Amino acid sequence: MSTELLHSVRVEPSILSADFGRLREQVGEVLAAGARIVHVDVMDGHFVPQITLGPVVLSALREQADAAGALLDVHLMIERPERHVAEFVRAGAHSITVHAEATPHLAYATSLVREGGAAVGVALNPATPAQAVIELADEIDLVLCMTINPGWAGQRLLEHTLAKARRLRELLPESVALQVDGGVDERTAPRCRAAGANLLVAGSAVFGSSDPAAAYRAIAEAAGAL
Ligand code: DX5
Ligand code: ZN
Repeated sequence: MSTELLHSVRVEPSILSADFGRLREQVGEVLAAGARIVHVDVMDGHFVPQITLGPVVLSALREQADAAGALLDVHLMIERPERHVAEFVRAGAHSITVHAEATPHLAYATSLVREGGAAVGVALNPATPAQAVIELADEIDLVLCMTINPGWAGQRLLEHTLAKARRLRELLPESVALQVDGGVDERTAPRCRAAGANLLVAGSAVFGSSDPAAAYRAIAEAAGAL
């Protein structure tokens, strides 16, 4: 599976807001509506308070993603991610993003993702400066500029994070995709695009809707996404 998709303009439905009792069906709805990257939020109860899902759920989605030519983009909100990236690679992640704040060994964690054969991302919390990722710019495929404090869906986008997204886009080479995550909806999507983000994660705005396919299409259209 090519990770070229990461360099196009895409809205990524985040399954965090999906109905897990009907996960396959809900993922099927957004894939049918045109989504080609599915965002999978992994939380460990330490780095962030909630516990969500692990490799078992990820692997259950892989066949469905492959059949649609879609990527599984895994956002690890877990402490010391270097201890777990191999499992997530084995479970079928196409890309894995680790938080700069979650380990003193960020370069080691990203190297393990690369060795596993997945695309590599680094996420920055709202208060983490853009410069935190600069030394790794040539080693990674994407930077995730968190537009909320991680841990929960349904929060409002923090305005100051869009200024950081803009700075990141100026600092990073073109080879690095820029992703935003948190508070993305039809109204904020154009502003995220204007700040330079090409990957827009949307959770509650998609799966909180009674018609996730229509909600996905509306946000994708607002973002000028494919
Ligand atoms: C939160 C997660 C997000 C979450 C966003 O920490 O990283 O991916 O699903 O949810 P919304 O789009 O509702 O802000
Ligand atoms: Zn996320």
